[in-house]
Amino acid sequence: MTDLPFDGAISRYFKEDAPAAVREEIETWGKGEILSTSYPYDKRWKKKDYEATLEACQVELVKLQRWLKDSGERVAIVFEGRDAAGKGGTIKRFREYMNPRGARVVALSKPTETEATQWYFQRYIDHLPAGGECVFFDRSWYNRGVVEKVFDFCTDEQRQHWFRQVGPFEKMLVDEGIHLFKFWLNVDRAAQLKRFLKREQDPLKQWKLSWIDVEGLKRWDAYTNAISETLTLTHEPDAPWTIVRSDDKRRARVNAIRTVLHALDYDRKDLSRVGPVDPKIAGGPDLWH
Ligand code: ADP
Ligand code: AMP
Ligand code: MLT
Repeated sequence: MTDLPFDGAISRYFKEDAPAAVREEIETWGKGEILSTSYPYDKRWKKKDYEATLEACQVELVKLQRWLKDSGERVAIVFEGRDAAGKGGTIKRFREYMNPRGARVVALSKPTETEATQWYFQRYIDHLPAGGECVFFDRSWYNRGVVEKVFDFCTDEQRQHWFRQVGPFEKMLVDEGIHLFKFWLNVDRAAQLKRFLKREQDPLKQWKLSWIDVEGLKRWDAYTNAISETLTLTHEPDAPWTIVRSDDKRRARVNAIRTVLHALDYDRKDLSRVGPVDPKIAGGPDLWH
């Protein structure tokens, strides 16, 4: 009778398997509150302030894109994070008022049979920015560090090999002059489960659920280990990670955009209405736990 994806596997997990503390957090969650015990704020950011600041950010992104076109500079932004961390939604806000022609999203599916025989980075290289472009990677070569480890999609040798190559690979991109950003969107266990529950009920968002999400619920700790290892081994001076605490999507989106705006010297830059990056929301790997 139900047309919920996976026959309601998410709600069943919530009722039967979720750790009691996580279930209780969700059951006692009040509207407007943040679903994370360690989040630096109690409440979501006020909608009015969020919308005004986001708009100011988006005005600057339009100027940034103009500058990219005029100068031929190239930007690549990698978005990583657990399922439902908010990668797609953040990319959407970045691109909302940008010319889509110069602001592509790259969201590759699992490697084809042929791709699986190629050098792991090869299919991503095809999508790197040309002059004037800003490319948004919704997931990236970091699949090998995290999801492929958690689901045994690669061998340990392949992963170790990848760890040896990823630093030099990114260094080459940066040496080449590509402005590279790496965002790790961090979401709490209860907030993730709440978002999955909502997706399960929402006909507009059900497509976002996959068996990986369902199965991944039980593998929270395996993810934690793979993420910790990946962030530690791939945080390089040339290509540092920016952790974005994404339990409040509003603060996450604005602070990700601020991070890019502050880092680039585009024409007519004016950050007076954009504001500084909130160091409690976006910053170095010490923000991750
Ligand atoms: P998403 O969250 O990106 O919508 P999923 O949660 O279904 O998608 O999958 C997470 C990631 O794992 C995706 O980038 C997908 O391509 C990758 N993936 C899924 N199956 C495999 C596989 N067999 N081998 C390698 N990667 C895979
Ligand atoms: P969204 O579509 O992401 O803007 O969220 C809409 C619904 O999810 C609303 O009911 C919000 O109150 C809830 N929500 C959004 N963010 C959070 C959060 N950080 N913690 C808990 N619930 C949230
Ligand atoms: C996200 O919300 O983090 C991304 O859009 C990926 C997903 O839908 O799980």
